[in-house]
Amino acid sequence: MASPIITIVGARPNFMKAAPIHRAFEAAGIAHEIVHTGQHYDEAMSKIFFEDLGMPKPSVYMGVGSGSHAVQTAQVMMGLEKVFLEKKPPMVIVVGDVNSTVAAALVASKLHIPVAHVEAGLRSRDWEMPEEVNRAVTDVLADLLLTPSEDADVNLADEGKGKNRIHCVGNVMIDTLLMNLPRAQKLDLPADYGLKHGEYAMLTLHRPSNVDHPETFARLLGALLDIQEKIPLVFPVHPRTRQRMKDSLVGEKFETAANIKLVEPLGYLEFMSLTSRAKMVLTDSGGLQEETTALAIPCLTLRENTERPITVEEGTNVVVGTDPDRIREEAFKVLDGKGKAGQSPALWDGKASERIVTAVMNFLKSPISRY
Ligand code: UD1
Repeated sequence: MASPIITIVGARPNFMKAAPIHRAFEAAGIAHEIVHTGQHYDEAMSKIFFEDLGMPKPSVYMGVGSGSHAVQTAQVMMGLEKVFLEKKPPMVIVVGDVNSTVAAALVASKLHIPVAHVEAGLRSRDWEMPEEVNRAVTDVLADLLLTPSEDADVNLADEGKGKNRIHCVGNVMIDTLLMNLPRAQKLDLPADYGLKHGEYAMLTLHRPSNVDHPETFARLLGALLDIQEKIPLVFPVHPRTRQRMKDSLVGEKFETAANIKLVEPLGYLEFMSLTSRAKMVLTDSGGLQEETTALAIPCLTLRENTERPITVEEGTNVVVGTDPDRIREEAFKVLDGKGKAGQSPALWDGKASERIVTAVMNFLKSPISRY
């Protein structure tokens, strides 16, 4: 039997990208496996996504766990080298921009295994963001650059990447969204929480630049405390953020605010049951900026920049930064019914994973020289 193509997953935002890729390879009768580095390991951050999205168990689970960037990246590299030497995949697919993504791309490249990067070409132009380093380095290493939208093609061309390496395949996370939305909406999490559809906002917050800086974190929480006076907030709390809240005075206030529902991290279906019925979403996540655009729900991005500008140009996203006045102003606009309308970008159509399989198989038939 042919050696399987391997897709690497590590952290939460990888799972919804790998699920449709695996399904599309399976449907095409092509051997494909998922290898999990274990960067995220809690049941709520990892296992529940495999269950919700009908993914098979990973063929290898490495159990790398948390650590500094250097430690985590190095552990992933050491583990994956063994896996690749043993399994000899014809290609390694990496998704997104987490530490496992760049670590896998580096190991495969040195073993002369071609690499495809799904979600290539996104740039925030903020070099202090660990994901920006991961994105840029992964794109240097990848042989095949599979982009979600045309702005990413332009970024890659500007960096001198050959046009024959770049394929705009569309947004694979939206494949997962379109496929699973009916199942998510069979659940009524808002009702379980005593909330009416369209009468609450979702909040997520986990970027180191927001939660690891006490002043920024306090400013953000202050603005959100004002917003919860006008509309209930549902806040699934990332483990990193939970820790920071314990260390902060405003964090304590936040935990006891009457109109904020703090919950543990949610699975995909529960999260989408809530998000798809929200009045608006306040977030610093990357993926959620895209999901809200696809769902036509106003999104306020609590960051100074975005690597996903198409969600602003065409979608429902407004990058509001971390200035409390601006956050309040934009949130109240949405509550007044003046939220940003938008449309779903081209190729966010549920078929990105099929295009990924085609691009990968074409590459394997006639590989593209890097030079
Ligand atoms: C990682 C990604 C980020 C992504 C995010 C989604 C990198 C550089 N960052 O950030 O791009 O948006 O995942 O969540 O790869 N922890 C747990 N349980 C877990 C995982 C983590 O409790 O299953 C805690 C640990 O205390 C850990 C901290 O969360 O130290 C941060 O985890 P880590 O994987 O280092 O980064 P994230 O902030 O999750």
